[in-house]
Amino acid sequence: MRTTPTPRTAAAARVVDAVKIYGTGDTEVTALDGVSVEFAAGRFTAIMGPSGSGKSTLMHCAAGLDTLSRGSAFIGDTELTGLDDRRLTLLRRDRVGFVFQAFNLLPTLTVAENITLPMDLAGTRPDAGWIDALIDTVGLRDRLAHRPSELSGGQQQRVAVARAFAGRPDVVFADEPTGNLDSRAGDEVLRLLGRTAREMGRTVVMVTHDPVAAAHADEVVFLADGRLVDRMAEPTAERVLERMHGFVTGPSAARS
Ligand SMILES: Nc1ncnc2c1ncn2[C@@H]1O[C@H](COP(=O)(O)OP(=O)(O)O)[C@@H](O)[C@H]1O
Ligand SMILES: [Mg+2]
Repeated sequence: MRTTPTPRTAAAARVVDAVKIYGTGDTEVTALDGVSVEFAAGRFTAIMGPSGSGKSTLMHCAAGLDTLSRGSAFIGDTELTGLDDRRLTLLRRDRVGFVFQAFNLLPTLTVAENITLPMDLAGTRPDAGWIDALIDTVGLRDRLAHRPSELSGGQQQRVAVARAFAGRPDVVFADEPTGNLDSRAGDEVLRLLGRTAREMGRTVVMVTHDPVAAAHADEVVFLADGRLVDRMAEPTAERVLERMHGFVTGPSAARS
């Protein structure tokens, strides 16, 4: 039986003509230089590009962690630009999940407590069935009573992934989530992000500079010098690497 695919127009998050300028005068840096991009709902998208290309800035502005200098950012139909601090905090809390390179777990809490911490702080009741399914998806059923220090790095990041998805956010943003992991543990976390997006119908946007990591996504968007320069569906590490070489050596090679 065929199921109807999610329409490509359903964006869980998007930015329109996004410009981000840091500093002023001599120290001014244009980190985003007019980026428009949609992150489709129910898909796993990687933001790829060389160091300094604006990946983290794009993610932070799309997620409401930072504000654009010009242009607009949306989570679903909600425009972030017009929100005051209080509403922005609530939106981040209720509709967005985050995974960072540092796992950011609380050492005194158990795995189970870490997973539901954001909801406990918010005073919202976790959906028990959803949390239960999530624990199986991340493979931590037998570690729920452990403290983070009793886990490997890969396991700790899996706890962070479960925490990010616990409140059923519209979108989970991950910034270099495998940066502190060896390749095997990193691979597990990437598979987990992909599986959660596909099997549990969640939206994931991941920043990475690693072609192997990007290849786990459904689609890769490429940034260079603060601009969106390409997109690639069904990426492979080889094709992503090839495309990256094109950006780095292409224009200057053509000039010489
Ligand atoms: N808080 C900041 N203040 C000044 N410049 C910044 C700041 N954050 C990032 N930048 C600059 O903006 C550009 C893009 O940075 P970033 O988004 O972190 O790139 P990436 O994540 O692709 O490595 C870089 O030139 C970086 O030095
Ligand atoms: Mg970065």
